[in-house]
Amino acid sequence: MPTPDRTARIALLVALIGTPAAAGPNLGTPIDERDVASWDISIPPSGTGLPPGSGTARQGVSVYQQKCQACHGADAAGKPADALVGGIGTLATPQARRTVTSFWPHATTLFDYVRRAMPYQESKTLSADELYAVCAYLLAQDGIVTDDFVLDAETLPAVIMPNREGFIPSWPERRPTRP
Ligand code: HEC
Repeated sequence: MPTPDRTARIALLVALIGTPAAAGPNLGTPIDERDVASWDISIPPSGTGLPPGSGTARQGVSVYQQKCQACHGADAAGKPADALVGGIGTLATPQARRTVTSFWPHATTLFDYVRRAMPYQESKTLSADELYAVCAYLLAQDGIVTDDFVLDAETLPAVIMPNREGFIPSWPERRPTRP
């Protein structure tokens, strides 16, 4: 037989459970899909989601000179900001030079990074054609692609970076299949 005290507590519990859930703090408004789309532009190593467009290293020379050289130096050799090329083969030496071409395992990351973050002072302003061209230009500096190689959504994921095997993948099953 429940005591009166216990009966009161059970009644309180039933009353609380029965109360409709609060509507929430009522802050903000749902975000529009189109607004999400302009931010949701990350490209994984596989290249999934790369936009239409194309460019060659030859076309990338002027993009580089106008949009990048002031910070990354002539021929992308660096100064005042990072060198973007060079240093291939130095990683296992005491004078290791980590650049995009010597260190980064996937060429798709170059496109992804430049699209989101560069030019530093006016990011997200380059067209897809300019992005493919400037990436081709950087890769061609170290002979990873030729000057006339057409970089696009198909060919970029197939580019093999020199340090491709230099990382131990945490999820080997997610590694893009080799071309
Ligand atoms: C106003 C100066 C400036 C301009 C212009 C600029 N960058 Fe950069 N860039 C930087 C700085 C500073 C960093 C380092 C950013 C950081 O570490 O957060 C950087 C980093 C990078 C990196 C990463 C390098 C690494 O090894 O981590 C890449 C790739 C790159 N820039 C490419 C470009 C390209 C391509 C352009 C032209 C489309 C460009 N940048 C234009 C200043 C600039």
